Amino acid sequence: MKTAIITGASSGLGMEYFKVLTEICPEIEEFWLIARREDKLTALASANPKVKSFVLPVDLTEKESLLTYEKYLAEKKPEVTILINNAGFGKLGDVMELPVFEQRDMVMLNCAALTAISLMTAPYMEKGSCIIQVSSIAAFSPTPRMSVYSATKAYVLAFAKALRRELRKSGVNVLAVCPGPMETEFTAVAEIDGKPSLFSVLPRCDVRQVALKSIMKARKGRGVYTNRLIYKVYRVLTKLLPDSITMRRL
Ligand SMILES: NC(=O)c1ccc[n+]([C@@H]2O[C@H](COP(=O)([O-])OP(=O)(O)OC[C@H]3O[C@@H](n4cnc5c(N)ncnc54)[C@H](OP(=O)(O)O)[C@@H]3O)[C@@H](O)[C@H]2O)c1
Repeated sequence: MKTAIITGASSGLGMEYFKVLTEICPEIEEFWLIARREDKLTALASANPKVKSFVLPVDLTEKESLLTYEKYLAEKKPEVTILINNAGFGKLGDVMELPVFEQRDMVMLNCAALTAISLMTAPYMEKGSCIIQVSSIAAFSPTPRMSVYSATKAYVLAFAKALRRELRKSGVNVLAVCPGPMETEFTAVAEIDGKPSLFSVLPRCDVRQVALKSIMKARKGRGVYTNRLIYKVYRVLTKLLPDSITMRRL
């Protein structure tokens, strides 16, 4: 069965990916929606009764959840045409002041779960299918006060590029999408709201446009997509200039 798998589908960009895919990819026969909040996933699935959805409410920082996911893959044997590794979170604050285990969970979700899900899912993907790895503009340069977050997103970008090369022979494309700030639950979770921060004044990216364009670019075989001219220019600058110049405290 032609399947789309989206992690972090209960809100923000992940929810938008689901909506866009239901509109532009009529060939997808089933959606796997993954996140912790079952009520949100079920509500999303119920609001779209024309498409078949499989809700998997799990905490992806836990190894047990990844084993459950692997078990469902083995049982259902989906033909995965698109995998979107979108679940992720950040925290704003000085690295020595933020709770250690929150920062560890960030690594477990943003890097470890994304890696495991990619490796578990790739054998169920055929020529012409694609993986979208959700990174961030924070990947381009180390970001003090979001030190661990920016490091996780640099990992996602580097992993996506190398995985793309390794999967090329199987015809599966991998795209890293690097959005700038978007209006989602991210800022509340990151405890950015109400704090003075450079993040608050950065131009916003439209969530729908990020979802739509990254799907289109991934299907065309592109490797990296950044939304908005300002962030495309920033990406080039961070390649040309040393980190000591481009690094900014958030
Ligand atoms: N918003 C921005 O400014 C921005 C900018 C650049 C990149 N990004 C990236 O975009 C992606 C989507 O974020 P968003 O902006 O849409 O934020 P969001 O609205 O907070 O969505 C995050 C999603 O991840 C899920 N999630 C969080 N912890 C999880 C866990 N332990 N296990 C399973 N799922 C988990 C959340 O669902 P549950 O809470 O139900 O588990 C939610 O569906 C993230 O990777 C983020 O780093 C965001």
